[in-house]
Amino acid sequence: MSWEEQNLNGACKGCPRAAKWRTDFPIEWEGDHYVSRREMVKFLTLGSVLLTGANWIAAVAGHLQHSNTYPEKMIGSVSELDRQRWLLFRYPTEEDPCIAVRSGEGKLVAYSQVCTHLSCAVIYDEGDNKLFCPCHNGSFNILQGEPIGGPPTRRLPRILIEQRGDQLLATGVEV
Ligand code: FES
Repeated sequence: MSWEEQNLNGACKGCPRAAKWRTDFPIEWEGDHYVSRREMVKFLTLGSVLLTGANWIAAVAGHLQHSNTYPEKMIGSVSELDRQRWLLFRYPTEEDPCIAVRSGEGKLVAYSQVCTHLSCAVIYDEGDNKLFCPCHNGSFNILQGEPIGGPPTRRLPRILIEQRGDQLLATGVEV
């Protein structure tokens, strides 16, 4: 190895003209690797702690969301629903369109109106007694909200409905 090479990689410790960087950064190669490993362990430990914390926060948030109590909201009347077979409402917020239907079997069911494929609005197809999405001909079973045709693969969230006298109230969402 020439003197210049030794001087550059720091091997020429006793050289009178040793590189200036050696005095500015006096870490040996072995020490340098040790520092890198230590930094790596620190990084991994910190990363693990952060990931654990993030998982814990997500779990708590999910739990809170599930235990979330939905508001009771008046959505219409039984007589109105029986007259027109279906009615539209928004629940739990004004941003969430829903549909309630008196099915061909005479059951009262309600679902989110947002198609689980690409979020078009589903409508009631009275002839076939199913919920239909006109965007890509998706369709859902009226009694369970399960997909029965077209591209959707997930069922529609069900809206829980209570009847009080002639009034219909939405009381929750079953995802
Ligand atoms: S958005 Fe409903 S089927 Fe595609």
